[in-house]
Amino acid sequence: MHSMKYLFEPESIAIVGASSTEGKIGNSVVRNIAGGGFRGAIYPVNPSAKEILGHTAYPAVSSIGQEVDAAVICIPAEHVFEAVKDCVDSGVKQVQIITSGFSEIGEHDKENEIIDYAAQKGTRILGPNIFGIYSAAANLNATFAATEVTRGNVAILTQSGALGIAMMGKTAASNIGLSAMVSLGNKADIDEADCLDYIREDPSTAVIFMYIEGIKKGERFIESLEKTTRVKPVIILKSGRSSRGAMAAASHTGSLAGSDAVFDAIIRQCGALRAESLEDAFYWCSYLSSSPMPGGDNTVIITNGGGIGVMATDACEKYGIKMYDDQTALREIFGPATPVFGSTRNPIDITGGAASHDYNLALSAPAAAPDIHSTIALYCETATFDTENLAPMIRKTWEEHKKAGKPAVYAIVGGSSVTSVIDTLQKENVPVYSDVDEAVSALAVGYRYRSYLETRNNAQDWASIDMATINEIIDRAQSEGRSFLLANEGAAVMQAAGIPVPQSRIAQNLDQAVEYAECLGYPLVMKVVSRDILHKSDAGGVALNLDDKEEIIDAFEAIRQNCLNYNPSAVIDGFEITEQVAEGTEIIVGARRDPAFGPVVMCGLGGIYVEIIKDVVFRALPLNRQEVVGMLEEIKTYPLLLGVRGEERKDIEGLVDTIIKVGTIIKKCNRITDIEINPVVVYEQERGLKAIDTRILISNPKEDSK
Ligand code: ACO
Repeated sequence: MHSMKYLFEPESIAIVGASSTEGKIGNSVVRNIAGGGFRGAIYPVNPSAKEILGHTAYPAVSSIGQEVDAAVICIPAEHVFEAVKDCVDSGVKQVQIITSGFSEIGEHDKENEIIDYAAQKGTRILGPNIFGIYSAAANLNATFAATEVTRGNVAILTQSGALGIAMMGKTAASNIGLSAMVSLGNKADIDEADCLDYIREDPSTAVIFMYIEGIKKGERFIESLEKTTRVKPVIILKSGRSSRGAMAAASHTGSLAGSDAVFDAIIRQCGALRAESLEDAFYWCSYLSSSPMPGGDNTVIITNGGGIGVMATDACEKYGIKMYDDQTALREIFGPATPVFGSTRNPIDITGGAASHDYNLALSAPAAAPDIHSTIALYCETATFDTENLAPMIRKTWEEHKKAGKPAVYAIVGGSSVTSVIDTLQKENVPVYSDVDEAVSALAVGYRYRSYLETRNNAQDWASIDMATINEIIDRAQSEGRSFLLANEGAAVMQAAGIPVPQSRIAQNLDQAVEYAECLGYPLVMKVVSRDILHKSDAGGVALNLDDKEEIIDAFEAIRQNCLNYNPSAVIDGFEITEQVAEGTEIIVGARRDPAFGPVVMCGLGGIYVEIIKDVVFRALPLNRQEVVGMLEEIKTYPLLLGVRGEERKDIEGLVDTIIKVGTIIKKCNRITDIEINPVVVYEQERGLKAIDTRILISNPKEDSK
């Protein structure tokens, strides 16, 4: 925390590579720092200059002879290490490396050498490959961007430099004020989490926007993001959603973009708001930085046109905004502003004849009505409206809403006079849009954030599991050089975690198979157990519906023969005889160690079509029961668990337990990398559930230190 303060609020700054030559980055940086009103000391560093842009220049940081908090480096890559060394040895606390030519082009060693040296003395590095940092707290514009910055309460963190520069221009043009803008570049040291730790505490920042391509230290990111969204909204735009996009992002930044489904689930779990486009992100920034949060669910739509009202109603449904429908109250509140041929049913239609005074009347009413919490105001250009009063009417009614602590959004549709009103009011940060969806989506973002704050729950639920048994099973598999568990071992791990599995036994020969079958009772399933056959069905290693002794004998021979035909050198470790379980709702439950985010769990519609239907959701650990229930509710086929067509509700509680148990296994057993139970057959409440087929992958024993 302490060291990040030197990044955002240095009292002195050196620019290594400062130049008097216009057009060079080292010239722009000095110009921006000095011209931006930085109040601290400015030390240009250049081996041959005496003075740059009116500031005394020094040949090296070590020759400045004063304490230097931060340094910006903008010299060619081959000299950067020496310059960083000079900064570190001179006690500089923060070094920003603008220079490109490091890990983003595969020069990892060159980058690591710098980070390692700086780490020895606790110096933090921003970049390399960045366009710099703007921090309103210190009046510091240490970037080489050409645009002036407007001060405000939005902080932007960006992994892409070029996009960051463009965003600086766009925020200035849209009059979105910035409290900070940080270009993160290669994130060799300082990353999003470090910056969030500072910005979270920064009183001048109300909203944070992050452009992300990939996350390196996922678990640290989750922790910091979650802490931040508790106090201020965070909007995230992440590229790399498509697999091709992810590849482009990875090669662009030299970091892994990670699985988008996992990323998406995790940021929602942390309460961040994911935007789909830069346009949305900016609308949301502007809206959240200037509008109050809704204090309740009741929203009204006020319109002068039926069609646009219906569009807004559809958008409310799409974004989960609840429309106020107390007809008596609506009539009382809006009756005075609605002509007899209009409607006080929500959407409130004040009709095409409405002029500005009608709008003033109608839009002032919700600001004053205690049971209305937010307003969507719609206007279609009409000949009867006194257009010169459109902007004043919007300003006035918006101020009234703000004073009452209620959000109001406006969608106004029409020709050039309407467009100019939108331009003017957007520059004043009034939430006015040219499209209904944009207006409702901005309001919805406030609702989403509010709902997160209301329902967030930091409790952690873990299960008690028999670690000794699980470790014994993994020890045995690793001693045999295996990186997976056999089906019976997978089932034993499930039992050690208290997850019900079908009764089963492993027979080594035909006599045993018959003996176990008679003991278990029919119908039964027989499956091959072989370290060399992972996909048993493909090898003809599974027989279902075995009803008597004769069928057991036939199945035994058939499976043995099929497997040997499939893989003549396969070692057959046994024949698993399992009770044939009754049909139920098939769910998949899994867990894996994500390379970026650590342990994550997954659940969804199970069975053989899981890959095609892809109705699965993810969550990062730790979890609690409420979060797991939310996870199940996100599955599109969740109604199957609630019971359809007269079926009873399934054992959802048991399924929640199972997901928590699987999460506990992956968290506690570092040697397990992947767990997949497909299917977990879930029955009605009193009949519970059963984990039918469990696949577990373990780490390579050679790489493992237990
Ligand atoms: N200490 C101090 N000053 C030095 C040193 C040193 N060790 N070595 C050189 N200098 C001086 C030079 O003499 C020169 O000053 P001068 O103009 O008075 O002669 C100045 O530092 C700059 O050095 P140049 O060799 O002229 O380097 P140039 O400015 O051409 O390029 C730069 C340096 C900009 C850092 C370049 O190497 C680079 O990496 N460019 C890409 C930057 C970038 O795009 N970053 C990512 C941004 S994000 C995005 O995508 C937009």
